[in-house]
Amino acid sequence: MNRYLLIGNGRLSRHLQHYFRLEGLDFATWSRSEGVPLEEALEGADRVLLLISDDAIEPFLAAHAGGDRRLWMHCSGSLSTELADSAHPLLSFGDELYEVERYRRIPFVCERGRRRLPELIPELANPHFAIDSEDKPVYHALCAMAGNFTTMLWQKAFDDCRHRFGLPREVLLPYLESIAHNLEHASDPLTGPLARDDRAVIDRHLQELEGDPYHGVYRAFVAAHREAAERRTP
Ligand SMILES: NC(=O)c1ccc[n+]([C@@H]2O[C@H](COP(=O)([O-])OP(=O)(O)OC[C@H]3O[C@@H](n4cnc5c(N)ncnc54)[C@H](OP(=O)(O)O)[C@@H]3O)[C@@H](O)[C@H]2O)c1
Repeated sequence: MNRYLLIGNGRLSRHLQHYFRLEGLDFATWSRSEGVPLEEALEGADRVLLLISDDAIEPFLAAHAGGDRRLWMHCSGSLSTELADSAHPLLSFGDELYEVERYRRIPFVCERGRRRLPELIPELANPHFAIDSEDKPVYHALCAMAGNFTTMLWQKAFDDCRHRFGLPREVLLPYLESIAHNLEHASDPLTGPLARDDRAVIDRHLQELEGDPYHGVYRAFVAAHREAAERRTP
């Protein structure tokens, strides 16, 4: 059985520790705040998961992984380096830990021509895919836009509805659920003024949002929607 070392104590590390524990994997952890020398923690580990901030990954690998017999991997969606393989778990890892079934469904996106998940963490049976290494930044940009930007929009809607109109966040939840449902199941999930090209409503929205930090966001979405529609038209 492989013995893993999970480096870092951030969000992903907490979740993967929980998942590894649920699946009975043999692992230890190390983070710089523990005050234990890394070399000590590396003893007895065959495989190392580097679960630290993206900017710190390459310098850390250059300092510690060169010539090492162990298999090193990281989980960044955007970074590709010759110094370690990668497997990007395509999920948002929040504060609360999840049930094992949810972890088992996480797709891992690896790099084409490099080691894939069954070679990196053979004890996990998660779905896995591969993309070209040079495509990782654009792949990750798409993931960040889809996941992080919609989160920002929903947080704004929750906050403004509460503060301006006294509406609790629960009022918006059925709408949020219907959007997620339509995205998953409908062939044409976009509804509303952009889908209808209802210019009067769009102009009114923009007038009302004048001075709001999200005014430019709305304008950018309108422009992106029109440009994408033009490109689709032969
Ligand atoms: N969070 C997600 O939803 C998610 C999803 C997929 C992939 N990932 C990937 O997972 C990795 C970790 O992300 P995260 O969200 O878990 O980050 P995070 O919560 O911000 O935690 C970052 C961790 O990196 C450590 N760290 C930073 N610089 C370091 C250095 N120079 N040496 C040693 N440790 C250092 C921090 O240690 P200190 O506490 O000591 O500062 C902390 O433990 C990233 O590659 C990220 O792209 C994250």
